Amino acid sequence: MDICVIGAGYVGLVTSACLAYLGNQVTAVEANPDRLGSLKKGLVPFFEPGLQEFVKETSESGYLKFTDSLDSAVKAADIIFIAVGTPSLPNGEPDLSQVMVVARAIGGALDGSKRRIIVNKSTVPVGSGNWVEMLVSQGVQNAQPVPARASRAENPSFTVVSNPEFLREGSAITDSFYPDRIVVGASDEQATATMKKLYEPIINQTFDAPSFAKRPEGFKHVPFVVTDLASAELIKYSANAFLAMKISFANEIAGLCEKVGADIRQVAQGIGLDYRIGKAFLNAGVGWGGSCFGKDVSALMQVAKEYSYPTSLLEATVSVNERQRLVVIKKLQEELKILKGRTVGLLGLSFKPDTDDLRDAPAITIAYQLLKMGASVKAFDPVSNDKARVQHPNLEITYCDNAAELAQDCDALVLVTEWEVFKNLDFKTLAKGMRWPLIIDGRNVLNEQDIVDAGLTYRGVGH
Ligand code: UGA
Repeated sequence: MDICVIGAGYVGLVTSACLAYLGNQVTAVEANPDRLGSLKKGLVPFFEPGLQEFVKETSESGYLKFTDSLDSAVKAADIIFIAVGTPSLPNGEPDLSQVMVVARAIGGALDGSKRRIIVNKSTVPVGSGNWVEMLVSQGVQNAQPVPARASRAENPSFTVVSNPEFLREGSAITDSFYPDRIVVGASDEQATATMKKLYEPIINQTFDAPSFAKRPEGFKHVPFVVTDLASAELIKYSANAFLAMKISFANEIAGLCEKVGADIRQVAQGIGLDYRIGKAFLNAGVGWGGSCFGKDVSALMQVAKEYSYPTSLLEATVSVNERQRLVVIKKLQEELKILKGRTVGLLGLSFKPDTDDLRDAPAITIAYQLLKMGASVKAFDPVSNDKARVQHPNLEITYCDNAAELAQDCDALVLVTEWEVFKNLDFKTLAKGMRWPLIIDGRNVLNEQDIVDAGLTYRGVGH
């Protein structure tokens, strides 16, 4: 099929490369000239394991192309994906200005030669399917000479469907090829059937697995869930809100574990083995972050507010998380007493490993708080030091190139992001450079015994 993906950001680029790999002719439309220039040279402007090679491969095979011409890409397409950003506004509502511009532009480009499917891939509030339909219709109307307007409006040449995204940063390609489900919200059976055809190779796992995204053993079929538009939109928000709530639950119980002398790792294992609960997303630590959970939970609360509907669980999910980010500060105070004049080294800055994404990263909150309390902050992240320098110019951190440089003269090290390389550090050598022998394991991933053997004090979360 001929596909047009508008927005070559994180979701758009992964979607484009995956659909191109499956043999579709994909044109990704990118308005930012710098980003477009990089992509045309085969360079992915952010870090995601395997994506650079994947984009290069699918571009070289001729299935993936990049352009800034929305008009020609839309005209050539059977299916048009809207994958532009919807960042949070200060009041928690998503900023839909990019969706608005793009939807009208799609309408302006539609030529009526075939019936196109317009897919909402961006995370948009409940009801946006209808809103996008209205905007595209406005675009169609505005592009038509006056006498043609009425007939075009009565016979729209498109239909809007919602196809929410569930991929995780750091494992985006694997999540796209081997998802738990594909959700399509539509009011049109023909559109649903076309979307099913598009995803057929994934639904029945009939494609050759790429070398860098091997098919999990026994993985044979993906449920294709068809819903109405509003339900598909709500599924996206509810899934993220539920995952965030699960983590906040684990973090709340972790605090209780510390009070009663229990161990959250054992408690999580014990409850997670109940299939009704499930063991994923019960890892206690410094809390959740990233571009999705906070944004989506607050967007969900905003929707509920429009209907004066209370969202006590969502509010608690957020407030537990805010408190949790500062749990390591409390532990530092307990161990070091005075934080003024101390030097704290942060292991990791990105909101989770295998990404350079710093959006709503717990490490940034912790760094600002430590600085506010009069401590000096050093940090080492394997990929996002440079990004942090650029995005947080006022954050007075000393950036280090390795863990040994970080540990030098520190009163404490705090592991904030569980990068694989941090799990096997030579703690004996690190301890020699430190001023005070303390490690706070903000993700419960370090081997406590190794650290104690190296002569350091170990403090985890919830045990
Ligand atoms: C999340 C969802 O997992 C995806 O399904 C969804 O598609 C995506 O948001 C999105 O809406 O685009 P992502 O934000 O990439 O994906 O990251 P996650 O792996 O979900 O982690 C989110 C945060 O939770 C991270 O800060 C992570 O460290 C934290 N986390 C995760 C925990 O603190 N404990 C856990 O047990 C799991």
